[in-house]
Amino acid sequence: MKCLDLTLAIIKPNATKVPHVVKAIRDRILRCGFFVVRTSEVQLSIKEAEEFYKEHKGKFFYERLSSFLASGPVHVHILAGVNSIILWRRILGPARVYQAKAEYPNSIRALYGVTDTRNSAHGSDSEQSALREIHFFFPNFDIDNWRSNEECYFQSCQVKLKEKEFIHEICPSIRA
Ligand code: TYD
Ligand code: MG
Repeated sequence: MKCLDLTLAIIKPNATKVPHVVKAIRDRILRCGFFVVRTSEVQLSIKEAEEFYKEHKGKFFYERLSSFLASGPVHVHILAGVNSIILWRRILGPARVYQAKAEYPNSIRALYGVTDTRNSAHGSDSEQSALREIHFFFPNFDIDNWRSNEECYFQSCQVKLKEKEFIHEICPSIRA
């Protein structure tokens, strides 16, 4: 069975404030075959947002990016899937919304992004970033434990979506 990659998706404040956009992005996540391993709604402080985006410190957009991320609630998801890191970024499209609209008109950023900063969603860019970002938002999520005890149920699709919580849980009858 193929190993599932874990990646971190963030639905940014310009998107979380529009319920039909949240629904469209969630539908897209499911249609693309990702499993949703964890979901959380978080309001970051500017300091926390700066820490999250610290690799961009010094760039012209760093302050506005950090204050935007802290400007409202974000929805954070751990997504699992074969090649999920690459796949989720492909579905997101480029960071720059004009480029996304021109070159990848069906991408999430083309459809729901407003500006380069308010580009509606984030995805980890490597396995190393995914580990860091997952730990940032879900410090109690134990990846080794998930791989040892839960990944196999996801690989064999023995999971079920809890719609309201937007999380896949292992089918209760199997767990018992
Ligand atoms: P970057 O790491 O280049 O893109 P990605 O999110 O695809 O990994 O940039 C991080 C975020 O910074 C990006 O999602 C939005 C913001 N940003 C701007 O506000 N202006 C810019 O010109 C760029 C390149 C990024
Ligand atoms: Mg990046």
